[in-house]
Amino acid sequence: MFVSGGSVANLTALAAARDHHLGSDLTGARLYCSTQAHPSIARAVHLLGLGRDQLIALEPDAGQRLDPRGLAARIDADLAAGLRPFAVVATVGTTSTGAVDPVTDLARLCRRYGLWLHVDGAHGAAFALSDRGHALRDALGRADSLTFDPHKWLFQPYETGCVLVRDPELLRATFRMSRHHLDTGYLHPAEARHDEVNLDDLGPQQSRGLRALKVWLSLKTFGAAAFRRAVDHGLHLSDHAAARITAHPDLDLASSPGLGILTFRCRPPGVPPTRPPSTASSSPSATPSVPRARHCF
Ligand SMILES: Cc1ncc(COP(=O)(O)O)c(C=O)c1O
Repeated sequence: MFVSGGSVANLTALAAARDHHLGSDLTGARLYCSTQAHPSIARAVHLLGLGRDQLIALEPDAGQRLDPRGLAARIDADLAAGLRPFAVVATVGTTSTGAVDPVTDLARLCRRYGLWLHVDGAHGAAFALSDRGHALRDALGRADSLTFDPHKWLFQPYETGCVLVRDPELLRATFRMSRHHLDTGYLHPAEARHDEVNLDDLGPQQSRGLRALKVWLSLKTFGAAAFRRAVDHGLHLSDHAAARITAHPDLDLASSPGLGILTFRCRPPGVPPTRPPSTASSSPSATPSVPRARHCF
């Protein structure tokens, strides 16, 4: 489903997750992500009628990634307390540092606990197009839903977001007009027949532009290989920038390149570095513990 952007894609997917796992009873429900997740996750939770205590935003590991062991410990603790974990949001390409949560491990965890796995790949899912990102394809295929924003790393004009859901019937269950109609007269909802697809039944929007046309036209005009090359070029540029920053006496690399994103700070002469660069390969602590959670909003 093409939607306006990553925020609405996240909302659409999480609405389906909520209805599928919780029905109309939201009591004790818990949704998990890291503090590095995009704020649109917190906003979606609010719009979906969940309280601020129902979103558990866990501190990430040293590489700014959601730690599956810490997450499992927290889920166990919540289950023991009689709460109802129902979904996990993994981010592929966090907005701040381009960190990639360990999607394969998180998918395994979600399967073990019977939770919905939503992957917010608004920026980072395009990495799967590149040679370096080949392994990500399999990982993304394990998600129940995936946010992908062609208006980010596919260079499309704004208002070209996308949400993919493993079982599209779950979108229909949440959004179909016939579920929500108020009477049978004015605006009596038209049911899709045979192989017709009524996009109105699959998301929150009724009147809509033909967003798919932008993506289709640029793929037809430039070819998929041009997009692969452009993503690769972004990765090379960020590697190049990291090398230049590291070699520069007045600059500190604050986070290594992750999916084309890096952060750095100016370190004027005489001022010591405040923090060493975080490494993308640093592993989570060996001892699982119930981590501190920060509630959003
Ligand atoms: C990881 C992530 N998710 C969601 C969004 C929201 O996307 P949009 O601005 O298209 O609503 C962003 C935007 O920066 C993002 O980086």
